[in-house]
Amino acid sequence: MLRTVFLYIALHIIQTAAWQVPADYAITPSPDGRFLQQSNGAPFFWQADTAWLLFHRLNYSEAETYLSDRARKGFTVVLAVGFTQEGIASPNCNGDLTFIDEDVTRPNEAYWAYIDSIVSLAWSKGIRICMVPAWGKFVHGSDNSASVLNATTAPTFGKFIGQRYPYLPKTLVADTNPYWQNKTAVKADYSRGGVPPTYEVIDWSPVYDALAEGIVAGERQALSASSSPSADDWWPLMTIHPTNQWFTGGPIALAHAFLGNRSWLTLDSSQSGHADYAPNPPIPWWNCRRGWEPVELMYAAGSQAGGRPRPVIDNEAHYEHRYNNGNHNASYWNASDVRIGSWQAVFSGAAGLTYGANAVQQMAIPGLFQSDGSGPGDNWATDLVLPGSSQMQWIQKVVMDRGASSYFRRVPAQDLLVGDVGADDARVTATRDRDGGWILVYTPTGKSFQVDTRSLKSCAVQASWYDPLRGVYSRFDYTQCEQSLVRSFMPPTAGDHVDWVLVLEVLD
Ligand SMILES: *[C@@H]1O[C@H](CO)[C@@H](O)[C@H](O)[C@H]1NC(C)=O
Ligand SMILES: *[C@@H]1O[C@H](CO)[C@@H](O)[C@H](O)[C@H]1NC(C)=O
Ligand SMILES: *[C@@H]1O[C@H](CO)[C@@H](O)[C@H](O)[C@H]1NC(C)=O
Ligand SMILES: *[C@@H]1O[C@H](CO)[C@@H](O)[C@H](O)[C@H]1NC(C)=O
Ligand SMILES: *[C@@H]1O[C@H](CO)[C@@H](O)[C@H](O)[C@H]1NC(C)=O
Ligand SMILES: *[C@@H]1O[C@H](CO)[C@@H](O)[C@H](O)[C@H]1NC(C)=O
Repeated sequence: MLRTVFLYIALHIIQTAAWQVPADYAITPSPDGRFLQQSNGAPFFWQADTAWLLFHRLNYSEAETYLSDRARKGFTVVLAVGFTQEGIASPNCNGDLTFIDEDVTRPNEAYWAYIDSIVSLAWSKGIRICMVPAWGKFVHGSDNSASVLNATTAPTFGKFIGQRYPYLPKTLVADTNPYWQNKTAVKADYSRGGVPPTYEVIDWSPVYDALAEGIVAGERQALSASSSPSADDWWPLMTIHPTNQWFTGGPIALAHAFLGNRSWLTLDSSQSGHADYAPNPPIPWWNCRRGWEPVELMYAAGSQAGGRPRPVIDNEAHYEHRYNNGNHNASYWNASDVRIGSWQAVFSGAAGLTYGANAVQQMAIPGLFQSDGSGPGDNWATDLVLPGSSQMQWIQKVVMDRGASSYFRRVPAQDLLVGDVGADDARVTATRDRDGGWILVYTPTGKSFQVDTRSLKSCAVQASWYDPLRGVYSRFDYTQCEQSLVRSFMPPTAGDHVDWVLVLEVLD
């Protein structure tokens, strides 16, 4: 009896001493809407890793190994799911279920307390969790039939998430489409090679709204409980995570195209996906070797009349070591495939990048948590050290190296490129300082290219080649104002997937 009382008191102390998310966890859009910033106004570069099943499958010491690796490689964000795709009846590695009696309005404290401990561990290493409250299939079943998250249950679940995890970025109901169609039927048609008929569309966006509004209400409540002065006008960084363009009959698969008039949608996102061929017949160009194109569309939408500039992210590009379209007969995406897509996306206007390694995103542990077959079936720890994961930080570095104020002046600058820029993942991509301080040009082929350099504000220009594999600059002789201002540049080496970044920078 006495033991029970002590145990009760001990547990109670642990609970009341639960980690509180600090206010400087928050990241928000910059004043012009194009970038992300920290609560003190400092630049924030979204270098995310995908770890959907982190909370579910890794024990604490494994999570520590995982997060230390990602922190060392410069990752600033990790995407992880609360109510996972594993299903409502599937316990986590500690044997705890997500909810009591499979009721999404009754969270199981032990399950979420474990998540708290991982969120806190990540923060101690400088990594923010982008919380994915639930997988998309819990709004609709795969056949587009109702599931456990509906307009009645979502507000309660959303409020729970908001109160418990204020300030965390959020990505709603992953890998889905608010205008979901009967995926079973669509898949069957594709596998028969037929042109899919137009399927009935069901609009599930009321459930998205209910979840989002519940989260916002919960966060505001948590903020006012901690006497935050800005509780009433707080909006978390929040987006939805669409599938790639899989269906006909609905808007293009970009977060703003579905829900662009919602105040709660503060981040725009796409999924360029994992396939470089159909199934994307409604939009033949939609393919993972052109992830820059959805980014350009999102960026442009923010400038259109009636549009609202939001930071944009390609939230799911091809994962390293995932087979092309998850098909085991195809080859898998390698480091250079993934690296090229990320550079092109950032230079096309994205506020950062989202990387994924195929065994890590699902935290596969063969024998315990089987791989889903979409890649070679490695253990997560094997894929943790894939080279692409070390190369992402050099994208962040070259952008950050231009300084804090020009961070917020970066604009896509494809118009600076003269002549043939190449197609798909061979395309040369340019970005520049709006005020003429610098130009950066990324080439995935090492072939020569031409740049109109007139936007540079002075003749005192330093030129370098920056190596995307090592993050090292090599200066070369260059005179800005001597000859034609449309200049030709020849990278140090050329070849298929041999990439370089040209850096032209005005000296102060
Ligand atoms: C966590 O998993 C590792 C295997 O990756 C194992 O060696 C270790 O004992 C586990 N730790 C706990 C606390 O279960
Ligand atoms: C929502 O789901 C709950 C739990 O499955 C169910 O009891 C309720 O009837 C559903 N409500 C609606 C409006 O579908
Ligand atoms: C979806 O399509 C499958 C296969 O054609 C069919 O069996 C199922 O009944 C359909 N579901 C709905 C909700 O229409
Ligand atoms: C957004 O647009 C949709 C469709 O036009 C409309 O039904 C909805 O009320 C709008 N929502 C807001 C918050 O303006
Ligand atoms: C892979 O190839 C085998 C043998 O050609 C074939 O039977 C199978 O259907 C293919 N699988 C997929 C997913 O394409
Ligand atoms: C990676 O794959 C691409 C094809 O997508 C290929 O061109 C390239 O040579 C490969 N890189 C390496 C290092 O194998």
